[in-house]
Amino acid sequence: MDRIRITGGNELRGTIPISGAKNAALPLMIASLLTSDTLTLENVPHLADVEQLLRILGNHGVDISVNGRRESQTESYSRTIHFTCRTIVDTTAPYELVSKMRASFWVIGPLLAREGRARVSLPGGCAIGTRPVDLFLESLAALGAEIEIDGGYVNVAAPKGGLVGAHYTFPKVSVGATHVMLMAATLAKGTTVIENAAREPEIVDLADCLIAMGAKISGAGTKTITIEGVSSLSGARHRVLPDRIETGTYAMAVAMTGGDVTLQGTQASLLDNALDTLRLAGAEITETESGLRVVRNGNGIQPVDIVTEPFPGFPTDLQAQFMALMSRSSGVSHVTETIFENRFMHVQELARLGARISLSGQMARIEGVPRLKGAPVMATDLRASVSLVIAGLAAEGETMVSRVYHLDRGFERLEEKLTRCGAIVERVSD
Ligand code: UD1
Repeated sequence: MDRIRITGGNELRGTIPISGAKNAALPLMIASLLTSDTLTLENVPHLADVEQLLRILGNHGVDISVNGRRESQTESYSRTIHFTCRTIVDTTAPYELVSKMRASFWVIGPLLAREGRARVSLPGGCAIGTRPVDLFLESLAALGAEIEIDGGYVNVAAPKGGLVGAHYTFPKVSVGATHVMLMAATLAKGTTVIENAAREPEIVDLADCLIAMGAKISGAGTKTITIEGVSSLSGARHRVLPDRIETGTYAMAVAMTGGDVTLQGTQASLLDNALDTLRLAGAEITETESGLRVVRNGNGIQPVDIVTEPFPGFPTDLQAQFMALMSRSSGVSHVTETIFENRFMHVQELARLGARISLSGQMARIEGVPRLKGAPVMATDLRASVSLVIAGLAAEGETMVSRVYHLDRGFERLEEKLTRCGAIVERVSD
């Protein structure tokens, strides 16, 4: 199993190309199930989660052709992929495939909307809480679906004549359930109004793509999304938006190590809250023509308190990385996690590097220390694993991160991007 060895202490200087967003690419790929025409997605990142979803879509009958051309203009490694689903050959998403990645459960929406039925295994994914699917099922039921859970599978069936538009208020904001209801409602009869919808930029990206495919959607990016159902959708060409979590992660890495890095191809508006927080912590961040420039000079890292919230709040997917940064601050800070109940698994691994963190319920208290010291650590989930890499970059000596398959799910060419900016990071295969 691969590990990553980091020799800490170097500042980061140079340019890091930001990839297409994993969390936008996944629902966009799933949207290809809604049409018999070709959906072409540009800027799709090369990640284990994307490869896994390609296998799942192939199983449903999606014909996939990948154009591996490197886009020289942005130095991105992302690819253009064409998806064509002339007919859905299988409406079952089996446990063997779905258990590896939670977002694959989202095929339930398009399969139900287009074929009138689906049988989808209950999901797996990062172990960061119980992560139920009640909101998906409730919102699909509001569109008229009949739902039964049997032997670890969810069986859904549309009423005769197809799904019917409805007014539905999510009791809790869910990114995944909003994606699914949005996709399903595009082919429902009549008008659907989704209240308390997730407002993440990835929701807006999906809605933009669906609109290009002929869907009638307004309000994406606000709490209320309105969808007028259409009888069919066509193909389209769409570019996946830049990855705001990758952007924030590298910005925090620079804040941690010091240096001067341009994050190429990204947009500040995707993560205003996190960037403002980083500025308070002492990073200088400016928008440039090519993206964002992040600088931190010799001054120390200031303690800042954060609370994770749905967009536009501070993203839970940057919480672990921010905690790594705060472990080197000049005082005491607090991190409160409100989205997932078990997202502090990185705490004990950061402690192995010398971080002083204590937990009380959903809040972590971080007492900054003047230095971290390298140690062997274990990645526990996708975002937690990259927090260990960031900490390792600033730690004295060698940090060896094991279980890096978590990183490969969500960070494209991490070692290469960091190495090009002067970090000493290498992958070790046993
Ligand atoms: C998505 C992101 C993930 C991010 C998360 C929150 C993707 C592929 N993943 O995950 O990186 O951390 O948003 O920003 O885009 N919940 C329920 N019932 C449900 C569904 C969710 O109780 O049916 C709860 C979850 O347990 C969690 C909260 O709602 O506590 C938010 O989860 P949700 O927004 O659905 O996260 P994901 O879409 O899985």
